[in-house]
Amino acid sequence: MRQENVLVDNFGRTVNYVRISVTDRCDFRCVYCMDEEMQFVPRAKLLSLEEIGVIARAFTELGVGKIRITGGEPLIRRNIIKLFRDIGQLDGLDELVLTTNGSQLPKLAGELKDAGVKRINISLDSLDPDKFRRLTRVGELDKVLAGIDAALATGFEKIKINSVILKNRNDDEVTDLVEFASTRGMDISFIEEMPLGVIGEHDRAEAYYSSDEIRADLDAHYTLLPTTETTGGPSRYYHIAETSTRVGFISPHSHNFCDSCNRVRLTCEGRLLLCLGQEHSVDLRQVIRTHPGDMDRLKQALRASMNIKPKGHEFDLSAKPVIFRHMNMTGG
Ligand code: GTP
Ligand code: 5AD
Ligand code: SF4
Repeated sequence: MRQENVLVDNFGRTVNYVRISVTDRCDFRCVYCMDEEMQFVPRAKLLSLEEIGVIARAFTELGVGKIRITGGEPLIRRNIIKLFRDIGQLDGLDELVLTTNGSQLPKLAGELKDAGVKRINISLDSLDPDKFRRLTRVGELDKVLAGIDAALATGFEKIKINSVILKNRNDDEVTDLVEFASTRGMDISFIEEMPLGVIGEHDRAEAYYSSDEIRADLDAHYTLLPTTETTGGPSRYYHIAETSTRVGFISPHSHNFCDSCNRVRLTCEGRLLLCLGQEHSVDLRQVIRTHPGDMDRLKQALRASMNIKPKGHEFDLSAKPVIFRHMNMTGG
């Protein structure tokens, strides 16, 4: 591949993974992700599905092989399956993947598979209906469990559970969550909460439950074997002996992974974020609306964005949040 057809930043990191948030709206209100009252982006400011498709194509022409559709809850956006179909057909794409809260999967799992989605990551923080309700404020556990069943029945290459663990809220469930995943042949990743946006519900420093604490909880029940396997995401994986299940740890606080960062994010408003934990960004909506159909100009903007990709995040749970974007804006 010619050098100008790849995205490489000033730290020598190649960007080959794009996470696209197609909406900031969600049918849940997870306490670590959103505040109780949220202002959502007005429709006119959203990228259209066609505009998202054009940006996705430009990325694949610059060597991006993995695209993840996320949100908010991506599956509540109207006609979203059309976008999956369009992106699924792009030359050069190795993997079209999805992060979802699972609530719409009973309806959409089959169409997603037909559109070319290979792997799905489903968020699930508790197996107790009351706790699940408290953590999501409005979510129903049964709906998500039905979504997981539908995805399993559809036969994706891999389904992964994502669990954000908060001290004294759901830290007592880590073993049950691993058991739930492993009996169904799924992987599971545990995520340390990140200080994105102001939330009134809890103090993030007090709720911090580190990956090492989770490891220690699991060591009492399982043999975890380290592996160098990667899905191209930030999880560090372990195999559970005698099963096909991998347990991943996404540990932005305790094991920073910015040195090997390979990704950028597109918000639903068309802002290209060069780092989850920083504000460096490029307004791609402006580029494509000022010069519609000009693929070269769009690709030039993507190449130029590499000059401002920062070295990494500076998350500090004990300080006031410095990133005012919530995760639903950022692309979870
Ligand atoms: P796989 O392809 O399955 O490895 O996916 P992934 O782990 O990259 O994606 P997923 O959507 O499951 O990401 C899980 C969570 O990891 C996200 O919701 C974020 O909380 C966190 N995460 C993903 N990418 C980054 C990143 O670049 N920086 C930081 N700090 N956290 C990230
Ligand atoms: N910190 C860490 N993970 C978060 N998610 C949402 N908000 C946060 C946060 N502040 C996770 C969700 C889901 C994914 C989309 O992002 O739990 O797994
Ligand atoms: Fe990449 Fe920023 Fe995430 Fe670090 S925090 S891995 S630099 S997006």
